[in-house]
Amino acid sequence: MKTAPTTHVIQLGYGKVGAPLVHLAIENRARIERETGVHMQYAAVVRSSSVALGDDLALRAADRGASFDEWTQRAPGMTLDVLDPIFDRFGLPDATRYVLVDVTATAETGPLLLEALGMGIPVVTANKIPLAETPGWFEQARAASQQASTPFRYECTVGGSLPVISTLVDLMTTGDTIQRIVALPSSSLSCILGGFNRGLPLDAAIADAMRRGFAEPNPLTDLAGRDALRKIVILAKTMGLPTSIGDVDQEPLLDQDYPDFDAFQGNGMARLAARLTAARQPGMVTYYVGSTSADGTVTLGLRSFAQASVWGTLEPSENIFLFSTSRFGDLPVVVRGIGGGPILTASGVLADIIKAAQRQI
Ligand SMILES: NC(=O)c1ccc[n+]([C@@H]2O[C@H](COP(=O)([O-])OP(=O)(O)OC[C@H]3O[C@@H](n4cnc5c(N)ncnc54)[C@H](OP(=O)(O)O)[C@@H]3O)[C@@H](O)[C@H]2O)c1
Repeated sequence: MKTAPTTHVIQLGYGKVGAPLVHLAIENRARIERETGVHMQYAAVVRSSSVALGDDLALRAADRGASFDEWTQRAPGMTLDVLDPIFDRFGLPDATRYVLVDVTATAETGPLLLEALGMGIPVVTANKIPLAETPGWFEQARAASQQASTPFRYECTVGGSLPVISTLVDLMTTGDTIQRIVALPSSSLSCILGGFNRGLPLDAAIADAMRRGFAEPNPLTDLAGRDALRKIVILAKTMGLPTSIGDVDQEPLLDQDYPDFDAFQGNGMARLAARLTAARQPGMVTYYVGSTSADGTVTLGLRSFAQASVWGTLEPSENIFLFSTSRFGDLPVVVRGIGGGPILTASGVLADIIKAAQRQI
């Protein structure tokens, strides 16, 4: 039987998503090879100041979790120096297949990902920050990917593992015209506002989102809407719009900056609850919704929808994306579900790694 060439995975980040990703990739290795012809091995797992080189160490790190103590110090910074020991051990990228995977949450990785694409190394990322926050980064990555037919896959930056980016790209590459995308892209705000829509007081809805693991330890991060903002920008850019984060017409949820959650509790919480109550109308549900239109208008803010519409059927924490297109006419294409969470996201990243190894752009 013909042996599949090995794809060496270089993974940046070993946090809530990165750790289960190593597990999933290694546990499903035989099945992936059997069903897709992709044979994957870990070249390295890179953390902020340490690295585990080679498949054995990645596997042992996955097995031992937090108690794994065989990380070695790595070169500081995020230049190609980080990859040099990997190329020394496994070969230069012109002779060796690599996929570079970013499951960090930092802007620092951006230049390295661009260099990798420039060298013909496929890139898979779940990290929204370079795409949405670094001016020109997305456009450079896409151009580098297209020029050399090097895969650049970022499905899990929007909607976790839900097929949001792939649906949008498939619609566009087959010649459909995207008129508008309307989206509830934040699981935490879906959970909080979904609870509020169902009659929970705001403080209880926030506490519920925290208890169920959907809100950040400091829920003000969620209420500030930055995560939703980044996702809307990535959707707009994927549509081909020149949108940067400052171009979005955002209606903030919070009325002012609060130093911490304690400072928000009390008057801040009461003011937001009053605003949400005022926005509430009989027979309607209210969510924090983004939209991006072909004419370049990109918005994020509170929107109300009839309880009898698809919006009234959402479970708290569910995401929804409605794509209005020329071909689909009056009925939008709908992608919905619970896409976030570490395991679901790791499974989406793994699917992207397989497609990148198959050279799917
Ligand atoms: N959690 C979800 O449900 C979800 C859903 C969709 C998308 N995402 C995205 O997936 C990414 C990862 O999320 P997460 O929850 O796993 O984050 P996390 O738990 O905070 O883990 C981040 C990891 O990145 C590493 N890191 C930070 N700076 C680095 C650098 N310069 N070089 C190499 N590694 C570096 C950290 O290293 P140390 O281990 O050394 O601290 C840590 O291992 C984020 O961009 C997030 O937005 C997450």
